[in-house]
Amino acid sequence: MAGKRKQILFSALEPGLGLKKALEHTQTEIIDIIKLSRLRGRGGAGFPTGLKWDLAYSAKAPKKFIVCNADEGEPGTFKDRILLNEHAKKIFEGMAIAGYAVGSQEGIIYLRAEYRYLRPVLVQAIDELRKAHLLGKKILGSDFQFDIDIHLGAGAYVCGEETALIESLEGKRGEARNKPPYPTESGYMGYPTVVNNVETFCYVPYILIEGAAWFQKFGTFESTGSKLFSISGDVKKPGVYELEMGTTVRQVLNLVEASDTKAVQVGGASGICVAEKDFDKPLAFESLPPGGSIIVFNRSRDMLNVLKNFMEFFVEESCGQCTPCREGTFRLLEGVKLMEQGQCSIHYLRVLRELAETMKISSKCGLGQMAPNPFLSIIDNFKGEILARDRVTDSIPL
Ligand SMILES: Cc1cc2nc3c(=O)[nH]c(=O)nc-3n(C[C@H](O)[C@H](O)[C@H](O)COP(=O)(O)O)c2cc1C
Ligand code: SF4
Repeated sequence: MAGKRKQILFSALEPGLGLKKALEHTQTEIIDIIKLSRLRGRGGAGFPTGLKWDLAYSAKAPKKFIVCNADEGEPGTFKDRILLNEHAKKIFEGMAIAGYAVGSQEGIIYLRAEYRYLRPVLVQAIDELRKAHLLGKKILGSDFQFDIDIHLGAGAYVCGEETALIESLEGKRGEARNKPPYPTESGYMGYPTVVNNVETFCYVPYILIEGAAWFQKFGTFESTGSKLFSISGDVKKPGVYELEMGTTVRQVLNLVEASDTKAVQVGGASGICVAEKDFDKPLAFESLPPGGSIIVFNRSRDMLNVLKNFMEFFVEESCGQCTPCREGTFRLLEGVKLMEQGQCSIHYLRVLRELAETMKISSKCGLGQMAPNPFLSIIDNFKGEILARDRVTDSIPL
């Protein structure tokens, strides 16, 4: 089935029907349905959504929060923007169902600062849902109440990381927290908080209406459902596509009419750069973690230049809290510049590889843990190109 353009999110949904179904179930029944569907978070890491909700449900506290992560700062990613602009009611319905399942009455949408122009669209959707008794008090005549506030982001990539996002929501500088405790235990203002991606919430009403077994039919065993991909770069038909999980890179390239492709960056700057030998691999959490973005490079592109661009981004966006990331991103960029000038020895390249591996295991948050991904994948997959251009020499001592 993988590869066919089966659509979930881009198909029609009657507003409120998912919520109505949810209210016919107990809280734990809903969590079980989401667990059974094997829905995994679409914000990048692919954490099982049902398990996250279960952890928040099990936490004992007078208040709980549902936060929608609409920060969408990953370079090359613009799929949540489409959902926010054209499918806002699906997001809010998913949040309300999450609220009912875990025992929360308050939702917050953390909207990327650059998307402030979408605020009126969201405000209007919230107003209409309130009027239809799908938000606010006595939802659909029940005792359940849930409402949503919009909070504008702080304009930093790291604020998309869930604990930095929570710091920012609390009015502080956006810096990642130590984990544990995880947000489901102690999140916004110290209360149990579910943070899910925009796209993740959108699948929820469909699953409640159609059932977990229906959702499982899409995608692969470990990565059920479909996925939105923002596709850009050297392609004839860029845009946002909904594809089944498990679609291969080559199928995507055919769909968007890419030709003469040399490399595909899967998952944005934090993702990995795939060479032609891997174009038949499926986009799924167990193979090529899909993220939200696919950037295509044709044979005219200089991969060292591509890498430099990504590393400059990480140097700029590192919050500077921890040494492996603050110093590591800087050193990796410096190494790329040395390679450009033909001043990097093979020995030093090995040292940089070790540094990259160290950053992955010792950085405090996902930014520093994933920043080495483009470095390692481009150096490994395009070694020939980089070495052939005399940019890495053996003659320069450390
Ligand atoms: C540097 C960094 C930036 C992130 N940016 C986003 C983002 O813009 N949107 C998002 O949903 N998740 C982002 N994440 C992932 C979140 O920390 C979190 O895992 C996600 O919101 C959880 O939602 P999910 O379970 O639905 O995927 C980011 C993570 C890191 C490390
Ligand atoms: S890994 Fe980077 S972004 Fe994350 S806390 Fe450390 S310095 Fe900040």
